[in-house]
Amino acid sequence: MLIFLIGFMGSGKSHNGKKLARTLKYKFIDLDHYLEKKADLTITQIFERYGEEYFRTLEQECLHEMADRDNIVVATGGGAPCYFDNMDWMNQRGITIFLQPSVNILVDRLLPGTNYRPLLKGKSTLELRYYITEKLKERLPFYSKAQHTISISRHNQKVVNEILELLDKNS
Ligand code: S3P
Repeated sequence: MLIFLIGFMGSGKSHNGKKLARTLKYKFIDLDHYLEKKADLTITQIFERYGEEYFRTLEQECLHEMADRDNIVVATGGGAPCYFDNMDWMNQRGITIFLQPSVNILVDRLLPGTNYRPLLKGKSTLELRYYITEKLKERLPFYSKAQHTISISRHNQKVVNEILELLDKNS
């Protein structure tokens, strides 16, 4: 089985993806880390030196390298489902799960690390909230194509258990 976790930055794709992979005894791949290794550059360096468009091309290339793998959980970057035909591609090849925290949770999680994320760099709390709200509107049509959605409204929600339940129901 090939499982793709999708959702906005800070939605818990990597955190829950690692836990999910451990439980299922699958391999875990964080697509951003995979890309950084392949390019031998950090995402911030890629954005700064070559721009977002180039990053998106690399991102798609890395996604396509997941095609022949089995028994893996892939945490995609927050923008990956929203470029090219990436969302349809993932839906055709695996199980797609959209992690959807409330805007309040996203703000709480993203605020301390804005400088590590090129798209959030230098934003105040107010600017961050506005950015998240607007960007989500733009991205929701893509994220909503996922086969499953987990809405997250509490910080301590047992997301992995919910994913395991839905996988069980649909097996
Ligand atoms: C991005 C999200 C990041 C990373 C890049 C762009 C986005 O991944 O791919 O900074 O466009 O939302 P995470 O969602 O893992 O932070």
